[in-house]
Formats: sequence, structure tokens, C-alpha cells
Amino acid sequence: MLEVSHGRTSGPSGTDRRGRWPSKLGARLHDHHAVPTAAIVYCSDTWTTAGLADDIADHLGRRGIATRVASIGEIDTDGLAEADYLFLGCWTHGWFVVNQHPVQRWVDWANVLPRLEHPRVALFTTYRVRTGSMFGRMRRVLREKAPRIELELKAKGTHLTDEGHRALDEFLDAGERLGV
Ligand SMILES: Cc1cc2nc3c(=O)[nH]c(=O)nc-3n(C[C@H](O)[C@H](O)[C@H](O)COP(=O)(O)O)c2cc1C
Repeated sequence: MLEVSHGRTSGPSGTDRRGRWPSKLGARLHDHHAVPTAAIVYCSDTWTTAGLADDIADHLGRRGIATRVASIGEIDTDGLAEADYLFLGCWTHGWFVVNQHPVQRWVDWANVLPRLEHPRVALFTTYRVRTGSMFGRMRRVLREKAPRIELELKAKGTHLTDEGHRALDEFLDAGERLGV
């Protein structure tokens, strides 16, 4: 099992700036025998989405994927375009039954992302009642950046459901078949 590397040492919106991606993210494009890489970046106010990011990271680690987890406040975004898998997460903000959307801090961050041609992208969120328009709104923000958003994961707490784990496995299996 690969060790999962966590960028976070303080709170989810903390000031730790160690957020450089492992150099293998850069090397990966030129080395077809390298292990697949994943970056998981989250926006979380009260740690739930951060916890879900960790749960996803643990799962990827068990699948032999070199994974880095960080909050949007502690990461340099340039290396993200080189990851094989990119998981972008934000907590669900809205009026609980309608108007769910990512928080402005995430939108501002997403708007300055590089173009994400290479990574297979997944979105994730945590919520209490329903996610409603959340993923649609995240997709709209990423429209010009990420042509390949292939998975949406949601949880009411810090752990994926069995169904979520299955969907994640299918996403990774498809990546393996494509030679990621
Ligand atoms: C101001 C506010 C608005 C929220 N709006 C919604 C909502 O529209 N739908 C929903 O299901 N949960 C909503 N929630 C619940 C959060 O999405 C949920 O608690 C989430 O897991 C928090 O993530 P975090 O701990 O990473 O910050 C809202 C919470 C707050 C504080």
C-alpha cells in the first residue's frame, strides 16, 4: 500500500504552504511505468469535506495510487494539470432544499486553475439534506477548465457509502483500462 501524503498540518483553511506536489507528478508524463498519481483538493469549513477527502485518499492509497491531499488554501495549482486523477471537493452551501452551490472561495480558486486536459476529474461534496444543483454549479465553474469530469461523489459525513466506494472503484478501473 502506498502512503498517502497529506499537505494539511493546520485547519482546512489554514496557512500551511507546504503544498507542493511530489515531483513524480511532473515526471509521470514522461515515464509510463510510474505509479498513477492523484491530487485531492478540498474546501471545507468544519472539517467534514476534509474528512471525506481523507477517506477518498485512503481508498486511492489502497489501490496503489500516489495521492496528495490539500485544502485550496495551501496548494499551488500548477502541478494539478499533471496528476492522473484530480478530485475537487467543496461543501454544499445553499438554502438546504434549493439553490445549492459551491462557496465563493472555491469558485474564486477554481477560476484560476490551469486547463486540466490530462487528469480524469472527479467532484465531491458533503451535505446535510440534498446536494441539488451543487454538482451542476461546480461543473459550470469548471466548464472552460476541465473537459473530463467523470465522477461525482457525495456523503453526509466523512465517509463514502458502499455505493460511493463502488462508483470510485469503477472510475479507477476505467482509468486502469485506459492505461492510467
Ligand atoms: C450556511 C450553510 C448552508 C448550507 N446549505 C446546505 C444546503 O443547501 N444543502 C445541504 O444539504 N446542506 C447544507 N449545509 C450543510 C453543509 O453542506 C454540511 O454540513 C457540510 O458537510 C459542511 O461541510 P464542511 O464541514 O466541510 O464545512 C449548509 C451549511 C451551512 C453552514
